[in-house]
Amino acid sequence: MSTPKVWTSLSVMAVAMASQPAAAQAPNAQDVAKADARAAATVKAMKTEEKTILTHGIMPMDLGIGTTKIPADAVPGAGYVAGIDRLGVPALKESDASLGVSYVMGLRKDGATALPSGVLQAATWNPDVLYRGGAMIGGEARAKGFNVLLAGGVNLMRDPRNGRTFEYLSEDPLLSGMLVGAAIRGIQSNHIISTIKHFALNGQETGRKYVDIKISEAAAKESDLLAFKIGIEQGQPLSVMCAYNRVGGQNACSNDFLLNKVLKKDWGWKGFVMSDWGAVPGVEAAINGLDQQSGEQLDKGVFFTDQLAAKAKADPKWAARVDDMNRRVLTAIYAAGVDKFPAQKGGKIDFAANAKVAEDAAKQGIVLLKNEGGLLPLMKTAKSIAVIGGFADGGVLSGGGSSQVQGEGGPAVTIPIMGDGVWAGLIGQNYHRSSPLKAIKAQAPDAKVTFRDGRYITDAVEKAKQSEVAVIFATQYTTEGLDVPDLHLPNGQDELIAAVAAANPNTVVVLENGGPVAMPWLGKVKAVVEAWYPGARGGEAIASVLFGDTNPGGRLPITFPASTDQLPRPKLDGSDWVEPNFAGDPTSGSDQLHADYDIEGSDVGYRWFARKGQKALFPFGYGLSYTTFQTGGLALKGLTATFTVKNTGARDGDEVAQLYLATRNGEVKQRLVGFARVSLKAGESKPVTLTIDPRLLADWKDGQWVTPKGAYGFALGRDAEHLGEKVNITLPAKSWKE
Ligand code: BGC
Repeated sequence: MSTPKVWTSLSVMAVAMASQPAAAQAPNAQDVAKADARAAATVKAMKTEEKTILTHGIMPMDLGIGTTKIPADAVPGAGYVAGIDRLGVPALKESDASLGVSYVMGLRKDGATALPSGVLQAATWNPDVLYRGGAMIGGEARAKGFNVLLAGGVNLMRDPRNGRTFEYLSEDPLLSGMLVGAAIRGIQSNHIISTIKHFALNGQETGRKYVDIKISEAAAKESDLLAFKIGIEQGQPLSVMCAYNRVGGQNACSNDFLLNKVLKKDWGWKGFVMSDWGAVPGVEAAINGLDQQSGEQLDKGVFFTDQLAAKAKADPKWAARVDDMNRRVLTAIYAAGVDKFPAQKGGKIDFAANAKVAEDAAKQGIVLLKNEGGLLPLMKTAKSIAVIGGFADGGVLSGGGSSQVQGEGGPAVTIPIMGDGVWAGLIGQNYHRSSPLKAIKAQAPDAKVTFRDGRYITDAVEKAKQSEVAVIFATQYTTEGLDVPDLHLPNGQDELIAAVAAANPNTVVVLENGGPVAMPWLGKVKAVVEAWYPGARGGEAIASVLFGDTNPGGRLPITFPASTDQLPRPKLDGSDWVEPNFAGDPTSGSDQLHADYDIEGSDVGYRWFARKGQKALFPFGYGLSYTTFQTGGLALKGLTATFTVKNTGARDGDEVAQLYLATRNGEVKQRLVGFARVSLKAGESKPVTLTIDPRLLADWKDGQWVTPKGAYGFALGRDAEHLGEKVNITLPAKSWKE
């Protein structure tokens, strides 16, 4: 693995890194190389019958499927892989996920600290936030006895209707890669292993176990695979989780091209590939690059034990593969120090300190979308506020599925979305115990704050009429396993908002949503606050933004389309199949579903909008502040860009400086090539230096990166649609291997 390069503002990052907590050092490339040598020696010492112990694991919970025995030392969570005592190899104890130690439907009664959703974290555009979040959740995982965190979700957001948009980061490979790398470094600073997932092109939940993604190698390399590559360089994850879907007709977990060629050969990555749960079609997945079968009860068979041993006995090629599988798992264990610094159940957790980490992330990632007439921040002296909807009296919404985290005592409110079936518990709507209503009352102690649940429009309108300000909490629940059919807020909330806005001119909408939503009422309300799923202290963070203790500095990491007609696939492939997609068979050929990603190719999100000349509802990179900024003085010396950011308003605040490639040889070719979140006191300016990763300017052609000779036009952008100062430079033709 190559040494990580930090492709972002050097000066700004230097300050950010200094504030990170003094956890252990996350393993670097040298640690991995040393661990690999030690792993090779252990493999030599292994008896034949020991060689299929590390290659498979169970889900250590009673699923009512088969007769799996749950070992005494297992911790209820997503996965368990037995160790080898004789060789001092510990068992792997695995928990989900990127947003904290998951709640597994309350199976383990202990709660954990929930970070805000991935998309909110990405809206901070701040690797330091992701690092601190990762370090925090990794610490909690360790204290609960886990030594593997199934984190690092970095699939590019190709479709805003994807039910897992909330778990992922952004639609851009640079932003996603940098941020996921920081999160993984944080997690792995706890002597535990992190995954990066789901490799690769896992862009929709509909038909998730069999949907076949069609995409050219070049487009994949310039987009989704680049996000993974940057994430791996930055974070050195010791495990990769392969995806459910197929790519080019092959299951991603049995995909010679993705696993053997790209990941292991071209990138030289030395960790181990674990399968997603129920994603393994058969034993041949091992030859195609899979190192470990996870959650084996969910597959059609346990392929990586006796079947694997028999293959190894009969064929030296398979025997060598089995040795390599073991070596890779051991490399991860040794590099993380899982054996030398064992995680133990019952460790101490400072929940108050950890809640602050979640709250700070939320404050940095909430995005102010509209603020007509400066309605926000609300005056703390406001006399009457009507708070409406969204269970704002109880808590804040979270996303569903395996990544679901809950605090001690479980959710404040749970609303099932299925009446029946094994998965009902996994995908209910759960609200964290962090009430925006209480937080609003605390911010405005002298105001008359009333609450209406919003079920009846007449009742909500009546209350809104009697109040100076109406704050509506609108929710869009999303979950793993289920895409949303369209971008409208469900349950008549659009009508509720329009009616309240008609009754009260000072209406603020606070959105708690998984991803982009339509806003047919946008012209009628004065302010919109994008709070995503804001995590364990979301209520406090929202109130802090509403009343101005926090000056919003979040920026959209995903385009909000004006309509689904603007998307590369106006209709989500397979969206007429409405059942939750936990089921499905990765081995079946009959129920295949195809998604054509070659339509947009590597032009995901804002790049597609730029190519088509389309105007979004809110573009990528967009976000308002309570102050104003000026960014200018762009100069480029080779691939080093310098410019200045100034806070020209009266309040302290954070700006996210964005540098884009706009044109190449006169053609529109928009790509984010650098970014930096800069904190500025009122009136202050700061210089920013960004180093541009040449891959962002290049095409993938015939097995290498190629930049044609010619004029490259760069621009500072307030967001992807509002490009300011432009500078053209000439670059020579160049090509290079990965
Ligand atoms: C998800 C993974 C998760 C795994 C284990 C799967 O359904 O796709 O993201 O890590 O379950 O819970």
